[in-house]
Amino acid sequence: MSIHGKLPRRGTPDAANLLSNFVFPECKLSLESRASWKEVFFDSMITEYDARRLYWYLESRHADVFAVLVDVLNPWLRDEIDHAHGFAIIYASFSNISFDEVLLSAELRKPDFSIIDSIATDPLKLLVALAYDEIVTTHVYHRSIKTYDEFACSKLSSWIRKAKRDEVMHFFAFVEKAKQLYPHRLHEVSGMLDQIYRVDFEKESYTGTFVLDHNAPDFPISKEEIKSTILPAIIKKFVC
Ligand SMILES: [Fe+2]
Ligand SMILES: [Fe+2]
Repeated sequence: MSIHGKLPRRGTPDAANLLSNFVFPECKLSLESRASWKEVFFDSMITEYDARRLYWYLESRHADVFAVLVDVLNPWLRDEIDHAHGFAIIYASFSNISFDEVLLSAELRKPDFSIIDSIATDPLKLLVALAYDEIVTTHVYHRSIKTYDEFACSKLSSWIRKAKRDEVMHFFAFVEKAKQLYPHRLHEVSGMLDQIYRVDFEKESYTGTFVLDHNAPDFPISKEEIKSTILPAIIKKFVC
């Protein structure tokens, strides 16, 4: 069944247009800085790529929850596929690896969703986890704008701004869906967020789940900052 015409129009240009004929600009980077950017582009590509795995996992393992949320998940997945595509283009050009090899490296990883099982059984908790993830990613991309701009490449500058705009829209879409479906359960959001935050920072490494990928020593926002500023801001949006 085609879903064309059923999705809201996208608010930003897609990767294929924004990054058409993209070639990474010439730049002088130290070996250390080059390695670090390579990791940033690769990690961005794979976490964005893993949205489809989360979608398939929900569809196959939590069909009831999936059915409740599918209308908010479809436009979200369309954007995340687009983000993965864009970061794959950037990573391939930056690292001089062929595009098909880059896609293969995203494909070959094995995800482990066991950590999500306790979250995905409740549609409200899942919406809170998705909203949490989207707003943290929004902050990460926002902080990246300055460093992307240093490449003096309009396509890269537009790309990171577009990605940030999409992520903040995802945050609001998940919050709105939660408010629309569960207006009488919003007092539970604060406790749910505490649990999601704990799970995020208890696990040792990213397991290919799209959400809960923030426990890395080089992650640009600290655990403490997420707790003290981002969590209260999320709660405010759910209860206002
Ligand atoms: Fe994304
Ligand atoms: Fe997103």
